[in-house]
Amino acid sequence: MKFLILVIVLNMAATAKKSTKYCSFLRSDVQKHCFLKEVLSIQSHSPNQLAIDRKSNTLYFSFDNGQGEFIPAMLNLDSKQIKILKGVKDAFAIANNNGTGDAYFGGSNGIYKYRFNEKQLLRLSVKVDVWWLHIRKDIYFVQFPSLNAFVYKNKGVKSVEQLRKTIVHQFVFDSEQNVFFVNGSGLYGIKKGSWNHILLRDRPPFFAMAVDVTGQVFVSSEDGIYVVSKLAQKVKRIVTVPGVQGIAFDQNNFMVYSDSHELARLVPVSAEAYYQGLSKEQRDKAVYFC
Ligand SMILES: *[C@@H]1O[C@H](CO)[C@@H](O)[C@H](O)[C@H]1NC(C)=O
Ligand SMILES: *[C@@H]1O[C@H](CO)[C@@H](O)[C@H](O)[C@H]1NC(C)=O
Repeated sequence: MKFLILVIVLNMAATAKKSTKYCSFLRSDVQKHCFLKEVLSIQSHSPNQLAIDRKSNTLYFSFDNGQGEFIPAMLNLDSKQIKILKGVKDAFAIANNNGTGDAYFGGSNGIYKYRFNEKQLLRLSVKVDVWWLHIRKDIYFVQFPSLNAFVYKNKGVKSVEQLRKTIVHQFVFDSEQNVFFVNGSGLYGIKKGSWNHILLRDRPPFFAMAVDVTGQVFVSSEDGIYVVSKLAQKVKRIVTVPGVQGIAFDQNNFMVYSDSHELARLVPVSAEAYYQGLSKEQRDKAVYFC
């Protein structure tokens, strides 16, 4: 038993980047929390932005078809069944509306809306090349190649005032309507109603942003995934999975991520549960991160 786990861990450690740290639970580490990694899908072409409709527990992702076009797909997180969504020309950016369950896809052909219940795909009347999407009451996006932030509202496009003329790679609102964004210079926060861009951290370079079920902001980097604690200017690494390009949170607020070769879910587990709650088979398969 022990031997098996050790073999898996060593094997993974050898193939992963140097910065990856794996948990070595001891039976006494009752307080320690780690994550079990569950591989959802192996994708040969790298998926980018992710979104999850929590009502139907559907994960939306896209993959490069090898010709520079991103094909959208849906993965049912319960059955693990994957379906390709036809009709969207280029889904580089993906987001969903937490309230309605609608999914949105953005790319070189503008923005599409997919109504899950009606199985209906609509193309919005806005001619833009979309780099990033974030849905609130309105549709927020980063335009390519300017990398400026806009909002699509009442069939019109306007600048996001707090981000006017700023280069933005990705941005999100937290539950208190503070804005967080990343660009080539680092991770920034803007308090609700303020115009002051506060640099929270300038390195390592940050990639993907997401907001969890509770409204907490997460951001990935080349050496792991960080949690941003409001505007207390604290940015703390919580998982050492390197090179994550997309993050989303499922019904249970478990983190789903994509890197260059797979889609995986991290299920939090305490040392106690690890030893008591898992079957032998699960433990044998487990790869766990701290
Ligand atoms: C990133 O945003 C900050 C804050 O607005 C800005 O000062 C900086 O120039 C931006 N970085 C890049 C590379 O555009
Ligand atoms: C999503 O919706 C749920 C309930 O509808 C709510 O509790 C939660 O705060 C929302 N999350 C975000 C990030 O808006």
